[in-house]
Amino acid sequence: MSLTGKVALVTGGAQGIGRAVVQSLLQSSAKVVMVDLNKDLGEECKAQLDAEFGEGNCRFIECDVANGDALRGTFQNTVDQFGRLDIVINNAGITNEKDWEKTIQVNLTSVIKGTYLALEHMSKEYGKQGGTIINVSSMAGNTHTDTHVRWLSESVRLSGGLAHGNIFFLGCGCCVRNT
Ligand SMILES: NC(=O)c1ccc[n+]([C@@H]2O[C@H](COP(=O)([O-])OP(=O)(O)OC[C@H]3O[C@@H](n4cnc5c(N)ncnc54)[C@H](O)[C@@H]3O)[C@@H](O)[C@H]2O)c1
Repeated sequence: MSLTGKVALVTGGAQGIGRAVVQSLLQSSAKVVMVDLNKDLGEECKAQLDAEFGEGNCRFIECDVANGDALRGTFQNTVDQFGRLDIVINNAGITNEKDWEKTIQVNLTSVIKGTYLALEHMSKEYGKQGGTIINVSSMAGNTHTDTHVRWLSESVRLSGGLAHGNIFFLGCGCCVRNT
C-alpha cells in the first residue's frame, strides 16, 4: 500500500516493534517522525534509515512521552516540519513494577494524551482531514500475570475508556485501533 503524501508519528520508534513500524511506513513512502526517549539510539537509527530511504523522509525527536508538554511540542514540531499528520502510533511502553507510577504514566496516561493530541491534529472536528490512531498494548492485559502494574495498564489500554472512545473518535473522521 502506498502512503505517499502521508505523515506518521511513532512513539518508542527507535527500537523493537516501533523501529519495525517506522521502517515499514518508510517502505510505503510515508514521511515518519520517530519519537523516543533514547537519544543515542534514535540518532543511530535515523542515520541507518537515512542511508536506506534517503534524507528528509525520517526525523528523530527526543521526547519522554510521560512529559505532557514535551509530547504536545513533539506533535506541533511534526506538523510544523511536514505540514500535516495522518497516522499516529502510540507504541512506547515499559515494564517497571518498582516505578509503578512511571509505568502507568508511560503505558496508559501518555497513550490517552497521545490519542487526544492526535485528534487535535487530525480530527475533522478540528477542521483537519481525519487519520488513523493505533494504540499498541499487550495480550498481557487479557491474562493476569505476576507483573501487576503492567497487567493493569495494559488491561485498561486494551479494554477501558479507549475502546469506549472508538465510537466518538470514528465520528470525528479518525479511526482508532487499540492493538
Ligand atoms: N515485544 C513484545 O513481545 C511485546 C508484547 C506485548 C506488547 N508489547 C508492547 O509493544 C510496545 C513496544 O514493545 P517493544 O518490545 O518493541 O519495546 P522495546 O523496549 O524494545 O522498545 C520500546 C521503545 O520505547 C522507548 N521508550 C520507552 N519509554 C519511553 C518514553 N517514556 N518515552 C519515549 N520513548 C520511550 C524505548 O527507548 C524503546 O526505544 C510496548 O507498548 C509494549 O508494551 C510488546
